[in-house]
Amino acid sequence: MAKRDLLSIYDLSAKEIKTLLSKAFELKKKRTTLDIFRGKTLGIILEKPSTRTMVSFAAAMVQLGGTPIFLNIEKTQRSRGESIHDTAIVLSRYLDGLMIRAFKHCDVEEFAKHSTVPVINGLTDREHPCQILADVMTMTEFYKITTPEGLKKIKIVYIGDGNNISNSLLAIASILGLDLTLIAPKEYLSRKELLNKSLEYIPKSKAEIKVTDDINAAENADVIYTDVWTSMGFESEEKKRKKLFAPYQVNSELLKKASPKCIVLHCLPAIRGEEITEDVMAKHENSIFAQAENRLHAQKAVLLQFLK
Ligand code: CP
Ligand code: NVA
Repeated sequence: MAKRDLLSIYDLSAKEIKTLLSKAFELKKKRTTLDIFRGKTLGIILEKPSTRTMVSFAAAMVQLGGTPIFLNIEKTQRSRGESIHDTAIVLSRYLDGLMIRAFKHCDVEEFAKHSTVPVINGLTDREHPCQILADVMTMTEFYKITTPEGLKKIKIVYIGDGNNISNSLLAIASILGLDLTLIAPKEYLSRKELLNKSLEYIPKSKAEIKVTDDINAAENADVIYTDVWTSMGFESEEKKRKKLFAPYQVNSELLKKASPKCIVLHCLPAIRGEEITEDVMAKHENSIFAQAENRLHAQKAVLLQFLK
């Protein structure tokens, strides 16, 4: 059977997303270790720092009976200019899968092109698909949603930078037919080609997608999701971003617009006092840390599906 990669949420169908989520819930409920991946290895390449993605993938692999292998990119010949082409071919002969966090999405695509084992995107400048599976899992959990239709009834608002997180959220909302409002300063709204891509799915899924720079669009939100204003790789824009994003902070004033039972999500790491205030983080830490935990369960489901 041909190998499959998970580089983007768009690599998954609505049916596959639902299957992955129900598997993740099953694994979370059971919490047993399995022996399925005995003798199998997952290579982990991280061009940028990571806590959750790195540790949850490694723990997931061990809990499924396999072994994670950390590839310190600086210690590989990639740091001396060996091509992705050659690296991917060679690594495929040792490993059963690769999880890569990279600066450039096209580099992960290049790895996937030449690798004969599955490649999983652990975050790029364009997408963070594994994060978003855990996020939808968390929404389902906190709203005790039992049917796929249930998820369509909650109003999801993402406020902040139009980045990898909001791109993957837009993708999953378009595929599953969710009600999603993206709020950002005009200059930082999602890229046009990604908005266009989402439009291809809407006629079938009936997703309700709104994109605006008006924070009042957070009215009646059931979920408010935010992320850092300056993602990894964009540090040179930090000063400008801090100024521009200030009105888009998730604080108690913004939450007054939302539904009284609104949950707050953050993929973490968070910068308290910037995109989210200390008090909002403290009040909503249940959902935010459950979201972080769900990375483990969602990724186990992904590994079982893609590394089989
Ligand atoms: N949310 C997330 O991907 O966290 P890390 O950067 O710690 O992996
Ligand atoms: N948007 C953030 C997510 C970190 C998990 C970044 O890319 O830095």
